[in-house]
Amino acid sequence: MQESHSGTFSVPSSSQKPLIEAKGLGHAYDYPLFENIDIAIRPGESIAILGISGSGKSTLLHILSTLLKPDSGKVIYQGQDMYALPDKKLLEIRRKDIGIIFQSHYLFKGFTTQENLEISSLISEKKIDPDLLKKLKIEDTMHKNIALLSGGQQQRVSIARVLVKKPSLIFADEPTGNLDRETAYEVIDVMLDYIHKINGGLFIVTHDEKIAARCTTVYRLKERRLIPVIL
Ligand SMILES: Nc1ncnc2c1ncn2[C@@H]1O[C@H](COP(=O)(O)OP(=O)(O)O)[C@@H](O)[C@H]1O
Ligand SMILES: [Mg+2]
Repeated sequence: MQESHSGTFSVPSSSQKPLIEAKGLGHAYDYPLFENIDIAIRPGESIAILGISGSGKSTLLHILSTLLKPDSGKVIYQGQDMYALPDKKLLEIRRKDIGIIFQSHYLFKGFTTQENLEISSLISEKKIDPDLLKKLKIEDTMHKNIALLSGGQQQRVSIARVLVKKPSLIFADEPTGNLDRETAYEVIDVMLDYIHKINGGLFIVTHDEKIAARCTTVYRLKERRLIPVIL
């Protein structure tokens, strides 16, 4: 059990059916990044991945989040081998079920916060939850141009944009890299609250052990393997 900002979260039991599961993952570029990795994300679970730069964390995140077919192994989503699905189906999963947050946000710069969130709302056919705006402290930026917001505000908008579509799985690649620590915690807590509320899953790559410690499960990607870490 781990103590958190909003109560006690239990580590999801391994008897629960995973939201997504990968078996025997391997991938190489100039050198092998990892081999034979098994990982599952269960309902309510938040997994943090630590590891030095170049160890393959982002590559693993891309593989699990529909963006990259692994050299070997399978990603199983809703009982199906994700990368054996037709492109159209994979795109639909990416659009509807999966939220991906990067360190540098890809917001539409000439537009306001509201317009950026509306695009996501339109694509996903989901309403913008006013509570989400409050939690991320961006209500007052709704009519401001993205380019005029601080880096921290922009990152919070990019997280709101992902949460607006109500994904069941969130993949975040060093999402707090540009934020000060306090804002970083607030942002992480919004994501954790969200996945606990909907019984979804979070997979987050971070350098910050304190942030990792807020998650239910922590691994270090090291020497081509995922090693469980107790923080
Ligand atoms: N698309 C790519 N083409 C060639 N090499 C890549 C590509 N993506 C990543 N790499 C290389 O793979 C290694 C691991 O990258 P990455 O997964 O981004 O690691 P991390 O996120 O842990 O820093 C790095 O050496 C990187 O240069
Ligand atoms: Mg990376």
